[in-house]
Amino acid sequence: MDWPQSTCYLNGQWLPLAEAKISVLDRGFIFGDGIYEVVPVYYRKPFRFDHHLARFERSTHEIGLANPFDRAGWRALVARLVATCADENQFIYWQVTRGVAKRDFSFPAATPPTVFAMTTPFARPSQAQREQGLRAVTRADERWLRCDIKSVSLLGAVLARQFATENGADEAVQFRDGWLTEGSSSNMWVVRNGTVTAPPRDRLILEGIRYGFVGELCERIGVPFEVRRVSREEVEGCDELMLTSATREILPIVVLDGRPVGSGRPGPVYARLRAAYDAAIEALRER
Ligand code: PDD
Repeated sequence: MDWPQSTCYLNGQWLPLAEAKISVLDRGFIFGDGIYEVVPVYYRKPFRFDHHLARFERSTHEIGLANPFDRAGWRALVARLVATCADENQFIYWQVTRGVAKRDFSFPAATPPTVFAMTTPFARPSQAQREQGLRAVTRADERWLRCDIKSVSLLGAVLARQFATENGADEAVQFRDGWLTEGSSSNMWVVRNGTVTAPPRDRLILEGIRYGFVGELCERIGVPFEVRRVSREEVEGCDELMLTSATREILPIVVLDGRPVGSGRPGPVYARLRAAYDAAIEALRER
């Protein structure tokens, strides 16, 4: 493979990504037993970093995994990582696993976690994606029942996204028992009659850092916002559909299962939210 020329952090060492190696007995490799985060960085500043750190703390707590650093420790590590990359916009990926141990499902005793972090230049969503929107397909949500944990066990997400790819789409919109959950790696937003609706924050979705952020943006720009269950019929008959994630920011979905969503063009609510999102990023430039 073509290795990016970047520096990463692995268990206390800083080294070229191509040289970072972990054991085949790492529980992340064997069981997917670990937690991760993806943090966008604009103008060399991590965006909503405290929210990411809080979610990481929550996820590690939920699976009984010791968090190797306090917030100051993560801040220092990420600052050093950002400094290794020439690009102003990056995204930071880190993961912590339950370490290296003999293969046994129970937690190993006194095993240090494996801590890995890297940065990648961040190509923000293109003009074409913003102006023409994305295509999505619907799919039954076949993941586990703790999607609120940002676990590195991502097979369900991988299969959902591959289903989208094989059907010429950018994302899969998932439903559990006929109710909207989320995308394979994004949160979903439905607009009907000018109101933005999001499914509740429960164990069936990951609370994206943009989940709270979109709520704040709606309030800031005066768009009605509500949280409640959304049926498949409502999604199929909506005026606008949008997704959010660290790497896709906020993007409109204009085609669902081959049919146009609303007018089939990015809608007015999307345009306002996108402008507000961009303004929040630009505000980082001045800080
Ligand atoms: N995924 N839901 C799922 C299942 C996700 O995997 C993600 C993000 C989100 C959005 O969360 P946030 O706004 O914090 O990015 C929702 C990341 C980007 C990933 O796995 O690469």
